[in-house]
Amino acid sequence: MKSQPFGPTKRQVSVIGQGSWYIDEASRVSAVAALRAGLDLGMNHIDTAEMYGSGASERVIGEAIRGRRDEVFLVSKVLPGNASRRGVREACERSLRALGTDRLDCYLLHWRGSIPLAETFAAFDELLATGKILSYGVSNFDVADLEEALAIVGPGKLACNQVLYHLQERAIEHAVIPWCRHNGVAVVGYSPFGHDDFPDPGTPAGRVLDEVAHAHDATAHQIALAFLMRAEGTFTIPKSSRLAHTRDNAGGDTMLSRDEIARLDAAFPLGTRPAYLPMI
Ligand SMILES: NC(=O)c1ccc[n+]([C@@H]2O[C@H](COP(=O)([O-])OP(=O)(O)OC[C@H]3O[C@@H](n4cnc5c(N)ncnc54)[C@H](OP(=O)(O)O)[C@@H]3O)[C@@H](O)[C@H]2O)c1
Repeated sequence: MKSQPFGPTKRQVSVIGQGSWYIDEASRVSAVAALRAGLDLGMNHIDTAEMYGSGASERVIGEAIRGRRDEVFLVSKVLPGNASRRGVREACERSLRALGTDRLDCYLLHWRGSIPLAETFAAFDELLATGKILSYGVSNFDVADLEEALAIVGPGKLACNQVLYHLQERAIEHAVIPWCRHNGVAVVGYSPFGHDDFPDPGTPAGRVLDEVAHAHDATAHQIALAFLMRAEGTFTIPKSSRLAHTRDNAGGDTMLSRDEIARLDAAFPLGTRPAYLPMI
């Protein structure tokens, strides 16, 4: 079942990145505040994973959404090493406990490992049947993996594929996005700002981005999100830990013209790289 898929507010505020193994009190407090501010601004998609901070990210999110669970589309991910029948069940229970909830809106396999996909999806189906998850999907899957997954679960079961997607890394446009559109699988682009590798305004491409932003009285980051979400069924999950950034990301529902899309397309060329290379 695809419970209310990936919309209508398509942006995420997730404040603990995957390198944070330790979170001090000050960061915890500001993280909770940033998440709540994001919810106040209408951001309703929160992405996390058991891997992020070894559960610390899920605990912070649990604190932030206490009393507001119904406002949130909550996504977490199981590590490939835990993706066995029993491992998935246990990992999901741990995530639910850390998040202080009885259900996930979507549960993802973080990336493909050595456990057969059929076993992982059977475990996901069990969680669906008990209502612990309301939909499931995958992350960092290329077309060959997606084909295999579809052959196992059948049409209409995979809610999304969460993959790397930013202005300077558009490889998923070659085959992953077309495949997902054709098969009704939402594309959730992660690291939409290049994980701190945002186009430099001093470069020709950065200048085009700034010109388009100026024309809309928007920021370059808002234009980047608008460009990445120009295709139906494609979403992004920017991370921000500063209130100003959260506000910026929440306020960017810019409609780009065909001409602007063409200019950005030319400024940040798709390139010829055929294969999608995950960055985890
Ligand atoms: N499935 C996977 O394998 C996978 C892998 C990587 C990431 N992800 C998901 O994707 C999310 C985002 O990815 P990410 O953290 O790698 O990178 P990102 O969203 O591309 O970039 C985050 C960086 O951009 C800055 N930023 C955010 N909004 C801004 C704005 N409006 N103006 C200027 N700077 C802004 C943030 O600063 P501040 O923090 O200071 O606000 C932070 O330094 C993660 O939280 C995670 O949920 C998934």
